[in-house]
Amino acid sequence: MAWHTSFNDVNISAFLHRKFKVTLNALGGFTFRVELERFKEDRAAVKVLLIDDEGEAAKFTLESHPKCSGIADSIDTFVAERHRNKKIAQFLSVVKCELAIYLGFSMLLATVITSNDIENHILLKNKWVKGETFNNKRTGHDVIVWTYKLNAV
Ligand SMILES: CC(C)(COP(=O)(O)OP(=O)(O)OC[C@H]1O[C@@H](n2cnc3c(N)ncnc32)[C@H](O)[C@@H]1OP(=O)(O)O)[C@@H](O)C(=O)NCCC(=O)NCCS
Repeated sequence: MAWHTSFNDVNISAFLHRKFKVTLNALGGFTFRVELERFKEDRAAVKVLLIDDEGEAAKFTLESHPKCSGIADSIDTFVAERHRNKKIAQFLSVVKCELAIYLGFSMLLATVITSNDIENHILLKNKWVKGETFNNKRTGHDVIVWTYKLNAV
């Protein structure tokens, strides 16, 4: 049975609201919205949005790796400009780890361009492990590969 068949947007959203009730209350006025997309028999993506009264305040997506069911790729992390520098991304970094564990993953993987000092700072601060840096020949970007081992949490 594929990992995502026992999950849906409702039970993931309930998990996040239960787990982060205190922080959500402290931040004030935010709720989670979850969009689960099953795009292959054994693959899915879970998009998590933080919603305020203006709409989308922040988001990230965990997507199952194509060939290793233990890895979730962390992609599309974004905080709306009106909420930047309030540690929302650092809160979401914790949310990502807890959600990935809940979904049964063992490792998080993220790629970040070297010039994104803020995101690289956040990952290092949150104890992600910095791997190889490489030049992506398709885009010309220098990219850092970051991992976070969930079994060690
Ligand atoms: C990167 C991004 C998600 C950060 O969101 P955020 O909620 O503003 O980040 P936080 O407030 O949680 O943390 C910002 C941290 O970066 C630090 N920072 C700010 N400017 C910095 C800079 N130029 N260089 C290094 N660190 C910097 C802050 O001091 C803070 O760290 P601290 O808590 O140790 O002081 C947000 O800027 C964004 O959405 N950017 C566009 C999309 C993007 O780049 N996504 C990541 C793709 S991989």
